Order: sequence, then structure tokens, then C-alpha cells
Amino acid sequence: MVKNMDRKQQFIDFISERSDAELKEMTDNMKILMSYYRCAMFEIETKFRVLNEQFSIEHERNPIESIKTRLKSLESIREKTVRKEIPFTVQSIEDNLSDIAGVRVICSFIDDIYMLADCLTSQDDVRLICTKDYIKDPKPNGYRSLHLIVEIPIFLRNEKRFVKVEVQLRTIAMETWARLEHRMRYKKNLSKDLLKQTENELLECAELSNTLDLKMQDIRNKIEGEYI
Ligand code: GTP
Ligand code: MG
Repeated sequence: MVKNMDRKQQFIDFISERSDAELKEMTDNMKILMSYYRCAMFEIETKFRVLNEQFSIEHERNPIESIKTRLKSLESIREKTVRKEIPFTVQSIEDNLSDIAGVRVICSFIDDIYMLADCLTSQDDVRLICTKDYIKDPKPNGYRSLHLIVEIPIFLRNEKRFVKVEVQLRTIAMETWARLEHRMRYKKNLSKDLLKQTENELLECAELSNTLDLKMQDIRNKIEGEYI
């Protein structure tokens, strides 16, 4: 709480030290920056929709269950710049934050995750910046997903700009676990014992969800095997 008040005060100081003209320029630049991220997010979403379309025609099934996009709020961006102790400027945000534009792809099977990630990153306008494979190496709490940070060009009236997008690929089971875990993580006023027990149970659920994914993948492989 004290930390939040500090941040709030820092922000108030930051704003009050600037002239009206400076504030207007900052706001305008920030709006432009956010529009770049929004465009990059749309581009990536479209790339996945195209892959899904092509795959469904060729293989008569959809590797993608659903796609969600989100743009980080200015409030969260501000909070992250304070936490990372970096300036709240357009340049610094572009250089240091890679999760302003987010695209989450919910896949049918684990294999689809890797197939789609490969298809995306082998497109010649996509630059892969980094991969975090929390499926091969789940987080200690059980979290699983494949994260990619990619950079793609957006074509503006008279320039081409590379913009970063965070892509999270996960199965339906991984999504269900992550959403429920995220919701429960904010119930902070639990006793120490209950907290520990909850963490253990969530880890157990993550293992069950992994078993479910592996079993489903296995069934699909058998079915596909029959058709070959
Ligand atoms: P952030 O500062 O939160 O962006 O994390 P990071 O830069 O260390 O990256 P990481 O790849 O660990 O996590 C990025 C995003 O993945 C988060 O913002 C969440 O959306 C998701 N995520 C990561 N870990 C967890 C987790 O334990 N539970 C849930 N529900 N989501 C997670
Ligand atoms: Mg993040």
C-alpha cells in the first residue's frame, strides 16, 4: 500500500513538473505509440487467422480454438516503468517493454502450439526476439504456456516500423488452469497454511491438466494414424 502511494506521488510529481505543452506532446506521442502496438497486434492476430483458415481447408480441422488480444493499459505501463526503474518515455517504453501488445492463441492440442509457433516465426517478416517454453519447463507453480516475443513491421504512410508483440500459445486446459490460478492469486488474505495447501493443490491441478493434454494428443495421434 505504501509502495502504491509512493508510485502515485511520483506520478503526480512527474506530471506537475511538466508544462501544458510538454504534457500535450507526451500524450500525443503516447497515443501514436499505442496505435502502433494496436496495429501490430491486429497483424499477428490476422497471421494466426490465416494459418487456421489454411489448415482447416487442408486438414479439415482447426488448430486454433480462439484468439484473444489485449493492449496494456497506460496505468499498467506506468506501473511497470516504475517497477523496472526506467523512464516513462516513448523511447524507453519501446526499448524496454515487450508485452504492451499481447496475443493469446488457445490451441486444440499441444502439437498445434509448436506447429503454429513454427509457422509464425518462419514467416519472413517476423523476427523472433525470444522464446520462453513453459510447456517443456513449467513454472514452479505449474504454469504452462509457450511465450514468444516477436517483432513485426507495420507499414505506415511513409515509414516501416518494427513493433514487438508478446504471443502466448496454450491449450484449452492450460488456459483454464491459468485463468483460475490468476483469479485465485489475488485472494491474498489467506492464512499461511491455507496458502501453502492451495499452492500444492494448484500444482496438482496443473499436473492433471498436463495429463489431460497428453492423453488428448495421444488419442488424436491414433485417430490421425488411421487415416494415413
Ligand atoms: P511480466 O512482468 O508479468 O510480464 O512477466 P515476465 O516479463 O517475467 O514474463 P513471463 O513470460 O514470465 O510472463 C508473462 C505473462 O505470462 C504474464 O503477464 C501472464 O499473462 C502470464 N503468466 C506468467 N506466469 C504466470 C502464472 O504463474 N500464472 C498465470 N495465470 N499467468 C502467468
Ligand atoms: Mg506481462
